[in-house]
Amino acid sequence: MEKITINASTHSYNVEIGASIRFQLEGLMNKTYKKVLIITDHQVAPLYLEDVKQAFSSQTEVFEHIVPAGEASKSMEQYSSLLDTCITNKLDRKSLIVGLGGGMVGDLAGFAASTYLRGVDFLQMPTTILAHDSSVGGKVAINHSQGKNLIGCFYNPVQVIYDTETLLSLPPSEIRSGFGEVVKHALLSDPAWCTELLESEISAMNNEKLNLYLSKGIQVKADIVEKDEKEQGIRQHLNLGHTLAHALEAELGYGQITHGEAVAIGIWFALRVSEKQVDAALPTRKYRDWLINNDYPVKLAAEIDSDKIISRMKWDKKTVESQLHYVLLKSVGQPLVKSVEEDELKGYLTDFIKEVSQH
Ligand SMILES: NC(=O)c1ccc[n+]([C@@H]2O[C@H](COP(=O)([O-])OP(=O)(O)OC[C@H]3O[C@@H](n4cnc5c(N)ncnc54)[C@H](O)[C@@H]3O)[C@@H](O)[C@H]2O)c1
Ligand SMILES: [Zn+2]
Repeated sequence: MEKITINASTHSYNVEIGASIRFQLEGLMNKTYKKVLIITDHQVAPLYLEDVKQAFSSQTEVFEHIVPAGEASKSMEQYSSLLDTCITNKLDRKSLIVGLGGGMVGDLAGFAASTYLRGVDFLQMPTTILAHDSSVGGKVAINHSQGKNLIGCFYNPVQVIYDTETLLSLPPSEIRSGFGEVVKHALLSDPAWCTELLESEISAMNNEKLNLYLSKGIQVKADIVEKDEKEQGIRQHLNLGHTLAHALEAELGYGQITHGEAVAIGIWFALRVSEKQVDAALPTRKYRDWLINNDYPVKLAAEIDSDKIISRMKWDKKTVESQLHYVLLKSVGQPLVKSVEEDELKGYLTDFIKEVSQH
């Protein structure tokens, strides 16, 4: 088992990573609780909910709340129904909320934990590769019909228990999605890791390698959020690929493309913009080949309308007048934020759409 400590502003917490550790949950926890509410989704519940419930001793009263799987559950309706469950079961300030699932469950459960009774303890049990990213750093949120994550806050978990055995049941599209954030962490931090990753085939990766990459990714995120928890500066680097990704997800309709797949395509575009804007030396060709060899849905990006995408990008929080603040790379491991004129960006996007339509 591996342990990574995150020093957040409110408290330090550990991310424990290991195979089958869901069965030892209570033993790994720093505290015991009289009441625990486990929040999960309909896809994860039949796979792992019983294991986690069984991991608590008879002294703990364990409640469950299961939401439909999918991004649509990060909603006001599900949030409200979750609070009903907390109130019905009389959870108090000393109770614990556990989020068992991917990033959707983590964000929803964390937001409920942050607001119920002005905040109760929250423990993350991520079950997707993507959630190596979302379970660390304390951002919790639900969506509004006008955009993703518009209602949320910063709320750090008391602990993250990451049972990597749960990743074995993920379908290929979710594995690909998770690797969109893994490759982001590699590009932000480490040329040697990046080269190694871009030379590997995701579906052929063994568990040992996967676990190593997840720990490396968590460490990259930890190092950044410890320095800039509230995204005043370098935390913005974690948005590499995300400006186009969010616009793509919204434009294609949520569910057409997963978050991490959209991020992977957004990174390709960010590499192209970096070459133009900061004369960067980057493995863009290798990256493109990696996306195609691993079946990322690059074709979907060819169907988009550049005007609509640009207006969505402007709404993505980072616009100051006609300039978009874009996360670029000078080289692998050297990110920077640069303002790019809307007109220039539109030109790059038109070229990019042409390039992706050739694949
Ligand atoms: N808070 C943050 O810092 C942060 C960072 C990145 C992403 N996010 C959020 O995370 C969400 C995306 O996370 P995600 O990709 O994990 O999506 P998700 O939670 O929707 O999970 C994807 C799918 O996989 C299923 N699933 C989960 N675990 C499984 C398992 N072990 N076996 C089989 N199926 C399983 C789920 O039921 C779902 O259908 C988005 O809402 C995004 O906004 C948050
Ligand atoms: Zn992301």
